[in-house]
Amino acid sequence: MILEIARMGHPVLEARAKEVEDVSAPHIQQFIADFVETFQSLGGVGLAAPQVHVPLRLFVMQLPAGRRDDADEPAPSGDPAPLVVINPSLDPLGDERVLRLEGCLSIPGLRALVPRWRRIRYAGVDTDNAPVGGDVGGFHANVVQHEYDHLDGILYPMRVTDFGSFGFEEELARFPRPLDTLESAA
Ligand code: NI
Repeated sequence: MILEIARMGHPVLEARAKEVEDVSAPHIQQFIADFVETFQSLGGVGLAAPQVHVPLRLFVMQLPAGRRDDADEPAPSGDPAPLVVINPSLDPLGDERVLRLEGCLSIPGLRALVPRWRRIRYAGVDTDNAPVGGDVGGFHANVVQHEYDHLDGILYPMRVTDFGSFGFEEELARFPRPLDTLESAA
């Protein structure tokens, strides 16, 4: 079942989501199946549960193969299946930050440069309660930070420091500017 996407302004996107207490519970497994189906119907790289009006701490992501935003980071392998990350933790590795161009399915059509940690460590469990996560950088780190923020009620415009970079994707594509960054969207 395809779920409806919450757009910026809906309170579900502004609240802290709750931990999933029993990953194996049938209603949780059914929700995740619908959530992943919805994600795959949208063609994005990540989606967090609050974005479908469900305030639980989980997100799904699928990183395109070969996408490498930092030359010193390995490119994602392009796993064939989307990865569901439940009850995640997230910590920066080092204090280096970079600007990433982001979008969000809850804020359709817009993009802005967002300061993000260059490298992070994250951990959670998947739908089988198996550990997932790792030390990552580049696009992978960008997507995880964006989706994790959704679980704390944070949308990317709340992190923007340079609103000169905020605009509609179509216009930014028509009038490219020298962005000292690499594009990403989640
Ligand atoms: Ni988003």
